[in-house]
Amino acid sequence: MESFVVKGGKKLSGKVQISGAKNAVMPIITACAMVGGEVILHNVPDSIDPLTLLDVMKKLGMKIKQLSPGTWSLSSNGDLKSVVEGAQTEKIRGSQTLLGAILARKGEVTLQALGGCRIGARPIDLHVKGLKALGAEVEMVKGSVFAKVSGRLKGANIFLDFPSVGATENILLAASTAEGQTIIENAAAEPEIEDLAKFLRLCGAKISGDGTKTIQIEGVESLKGTHHSIIPDRIETGTFMIGAVMAGGDVLIEQALPSTVDSLIFKLQEAGVIVRIENHTSIRIRNTSRPKAINIKTLPYPGFPTDLQPQTTAMCSIADGVSVISESVFESRFGAVPELVRMGAEIQAEGHSVIVKGVEKLQGTEVIAPDLRGAVALVLAGLCAEGTTKVVGAHHADRGYEKFEMKLKAIGADIERGAENQTNQHSEEQ
Ligand code: EPZ
Repeated sequence: MESFVVKGGKKLSGKVQISGAKNAVMPIITACAMVGGEVILHNVPDSIDPLTLLDVMKKLGMKIKQLSPGTWSLSSNGDLKSVVEGAQTEKIRGSQTLLGAILARKGEVTLQALGGCRIGARPIDLHVKGLKALGAEVEMVKGSVFAKVSGRLKGANIFLDFPSVGATENILLAASTAEGQTIIENAAAEPEIEDLAKFLRLCGAKISGDGTKTIQIEGVESLKGTHHSIIPDRIETGTFMIGAVMAGGDVLIEQALPSTVDSLIFKLQEAGVIVRIENHTSIRIRNTSRPKAINIKTLPYPGFPTDLQPQTTAMCSIADGVSVISESVFESRFGAVPELVRMGAEIQAEGHSVIVKGVEKLQGTEVIAPDLRGAVALVLAGLCAEGTTKVVGAHHADRGYEKFEMKLKAIGADIERGAENQTNQHSEEQ
């Protein structure tokens, strides 16, 4: 298993460019299964989850071709398989929207496995409720989801008990070519939903209200090919912002969308960090002192993003004061906490929250990455720890970050990717 080896103490300075958003490109790749004709996608991140999903689409019968770095051509003549094998989809969550896309295109779909970070139960009851409301028969058989509809899906009014991103995306896809109007109440409003809706509109879909709690879709007969550039990854943006605070220094984050990280900007300013929005695509972080303690509660967008909670918990580990961090979106997303404690952090779990008493310095040691965002949180902790930190499980980070350690190195971090050639007692215990 590959590791990141980080030598702490180096300040960061320079420019880092943000890649396309993993959580925007995943549903958009699946949406291409519904489109008659060629789609050209730009700014596709070169990270594992999107590449895995492109492979799944190829196995389903899509024609997939990389035209240049970050630019892909996807087309289907409609004869797609409707059974999505589990072998690959069990590694990624982003295959979930194949449900709505293939059901809409083929009239039936079997999704054999759903993966993604183990940060909670991650049920799909809201996806199922939405597709059933549109007229599909849906059943779970031995871990596989099977859905089918005779004739065309029919528009409906759907209320989501929780503004689930995936469920909103699946309903958006299936409703785009359903007969009649669909209204989604209490919809997710994440920027990635807006990017998916923008892509579908470019293909001819009639969607309004995306980015708000109520989305309206007028079903159309068919969708046609188009060009689309994926929005910048707001979680990668926030990760580098927090890294610049923890290591200290002066970093310009480019090709970003500052408006999509408003909640983090306000929280970093509360922590005493100088955050400058240079223009509508760049953010500058300058920090030379310990951040002040802050309280965080993760919420659906525009609230504080759960995908930045592990990184923020790492930052609060070295903050001046006591921080309370509440995770209200996923039920077990503090996997990095035991590893931070092994680095000397003083963190106590209290139900769905952690109480973090900031320390002056963390101590480098070998730690085990629990999941995608936990992996990068531990790397950030290594940037400011005394000595060397070895984060075992670099593949977790590779799922959602393009050239993560290369981008950090380019702004001054002392980080290498090492093969895992020996394990100590700790990692064997895992
Ligand atoms: C998407 O996951 C993202 N993944 C996650 O990013 C992100 O954390 C999450 O949205 C929230 O923003 C992708 O887009 C591929 P949800 P998703 O459905 O769609 C409950 C990362 O690190 N729920 O909004 O799975 C669920 O249990 C990943 O990039 C139901 O109860 O998230 C959870 O508690 C991690 N029933 C909450 O809603 C359902 O049918 C949020 O889940 C669906 C969800």
